[in-house]
Parts: sequence; C-alpha cells; structure tokens
Amino acid sequence: MAKKTVRDIDVAGKRVLVRVDFNVPLEDGRITDDRRIREARPTITYLIDRGARVILCSHLGRPRGQVVESLRLDPVAARLGELLDRPVRKTNEVVGPPVQAAVAAMKPEEVLLLENLRFHAEEEANDPAFARQLAALADIYVNDAFGAAHRAHASTVGVAQYLPAVAGFLMEKELLHLGAILDRPTHPFVAILGGKKVEDKIPVIRHLLARADAILLGGAMSYTFLRARGLEVGKSLVEPEMVGLAGELMEEARRREVAFELPVDVVVAQSPEGGPTRVVPVELLPPDWMGVDIGPRTREQFIDVVKRAGTIFWNGPMGIFEVDAFADGTTALAQAMAETSATTVVGGGDTAAAVEEVGVAERITHISTGGGASLEFMEGKVLPGVAVLNDR
Ligand code: 3PG
Repeated sequence: MAKKTVRDIDVAGKRVLVRVDFNVPLEDGRITDDRRIREARPTITYLIDRGARVILCSHLGRPRGQVVESLRLDPVAARLGELLDRPVRKTNEVVGPPVQAAVAAMKPEEVLLLENLRFHAEEEANDPAFARQLAALADIYVNDAFGAAHRAHASTVGVAQYLPAVAGFLMEKELLHLGAILDRPTHPFVAILGGKKVEDKIPVIRHLLARADAILLGGAMSYTFLRARGLEVGKSLVEPEMVGLAGELMEEARRREVAFELPVDVVVAQSPEGGPTRVVPVELLPPDWMGVDIGPRTREQFIDVVKRAGTIFWNGPMGIFEVDAFADGTTALAQAMAETSATTVVGGGDTAAAVEEVGVAERITHISTGGGASLEFMEGKVLPGVAVLNDR
C-alpha cells in the first residue's frame, strides 16, 4: 500500500490516538451488530502487544454538536472490553482537563475510549483548534476508521496535520480489497446494485461502466430504471427526477457493451410492511401494487451471472429484506455469492447485515465496514481520511 501503516512506526510506550468507526446500530442501548468493533480489534491488539497507550476515538450517530445521552459510547466500551478481554476505560468528555488527566494516568498496554466526537460541532466542522486538542493527547495518530474516511472531519483529517499519521489494519484491508476490484478485477467483473436512493448510486454506476462486464440492478432503485424503459411500475418507489439520468446510463452501458440487467419479474405487495404478495412480470405491474423484491425468474438470471463471474461487488438489497416475505431475492443472492469461487466483496451497512443474517458472512471474500465510504471509494474518489495519511 502507498500509505504507511502501524507496521511502519515504533509505538512502544507511545500514546497512540486511534480513530475507529464505532458507529454501530443500537436498539434500546443494545448493540445489534458489533462487526465494526470486532474489525477494529487487530489494530488495537497489535498496539497493546507492543506496549502502546491506546486512545480510541469515534463518532456514534448524528448528535450534531449536542450531548445526546443515548449516543454516549458506554455500550461500545463495554463490548470492546469483552472482545479484548481487558478493561476499557471511557471518558465522559472528548477533550479538556478530565481527558488530559485520564491520558496522563495511562500505563503502557492500557486502552481508553473518548466520548462521542460529534458531541462537539467542531468535529464535523474540521475545526483546527479542536483537531489540535485531540492531537495534543497523543504522539502518533492511526486512522482505522475506513467507514468514516469519506468525511473530512477534525478526527479524520484535521488531526493528521499535527502528528505522524498512519493507517490501521482495517483501513489497510479495506483499501486493498476495494482497490483490487477496481484496479485488477478477475473478469467477468459483475456489480450488483440495489437499495433505495438512485442518486447515491449514479456516480458508482458511471465509474463501474468503464470497468465491469455486467451490472445487475434490483431493489427499490430498479423501478426508476424500469420507468426509464417506459414501463408503468404501480406504487413502486420511483425518483422521477432521476428517470432521465437512468435512461442515459443504460444508453452508455449499451454503447460500452456492458450487460445492464434489470428485473424481469418482481414480487409485489400493497404495503411495504407485509401482507399478500403476487409475482408478476415487470410489464404487468398492477397500478395499486408495489415491487418489494425481485421475482424467481430474475433471481435465476442474476444467479446465473453470479456463477460465471470472476469478481463480484454487491451493494444494496434486492428488496425490503427486513420483511421475511420480501427477503427471498436478497437471501438467494447472498447464498449464490457464498457458493461461487469468485472474489466477492460486499459494501454497505444493509447488504452486510443481509449477508450476516443469511449466515454466509464467513464465505464472502471481504465485507466492507464502510457504507458511504465504500460507495465513494467505488466511485473512484480519493477519500479525504486516506489522502492525509503519510506516504510510504
Ligand atoms: C457510516 O455509518 O457510514 C459512517 O460511520 C459514517 O457516518 P455518517 O454518515 O453519519 O458520517
């Protein structure tokens, strides 16, 4: 990798500020998916083993510069302590005298977690004074928060001006896997895109059109593309202002000879919450019904493409998979991904959750911890949190 990593520096006895992405889903104060915490473990353990003082910092949710009690990082500290099998102390502030005192009292091999960075508006504003305060706590800065690397905030960008700045192992792993599928994919390279917002995916589709051999589109976003093909899609989610652009992208795919597949049949329902379903060809979607999943014929066609692929990137579910009756398409695709010998990369929170739920996570080559970050990376952007790290 072109950037320095923790392997390239001496951390023994040093105070190391590690930016992690512990922005995990919580329900009633309980962590419902701890993947991001588990994935940060290798860097933390490496630093502990080398006698560093490990100061962790993260955001959680979007408190927008206010202290929000339900977004304190206490449940995260508790879970991390279990995973590391050692106490993880946590401060109730991000900066200031109590934090300075807690850091000054740290011994080598100890781990301290600072409070939610976004309790300070200065974090998202990338305020230099706030970045300096964070930097003053440490001798070295490590960014292991790939999931937040698309944000130019004080803890992801600002702080790197004041300290030696290197990547952690999770950051390195993400950049290697995602970089490899963009730079040297084994062909055929297939991208599967789904989920809701067309607008978020347009730049990715554009970038992938120059690289992929096939793009398979499912989920809510596919209805905007079906509309662009002139079909009536009933009550299905359509972004009318994106229809024109969707048509242009399909035209570009045709020019570049990239297979661009949309659903040929869909599961429809009258409510996104559940109720009776029917399977219909996309040409016959009834006016009062909405598409909630890809249909069985589409499933077969998509799986057929997956089976013949050399590399697959998947972002976005094929339907409303939170509702069991609408989850068959997403489940079938996750299983097909697990069974292929292709390099398989899954990006995005929802898709990662689906793959976990189906129980095939261990058989996917790489599941990204980044939602927005992995999408922006796949757009070909240089992420600001990566750009500021020291070159090798
Ligand atoms: C994420 O969950 O994608 C990251 O933690 C970034 O969170 P944000 O979108 O609130 O900046």
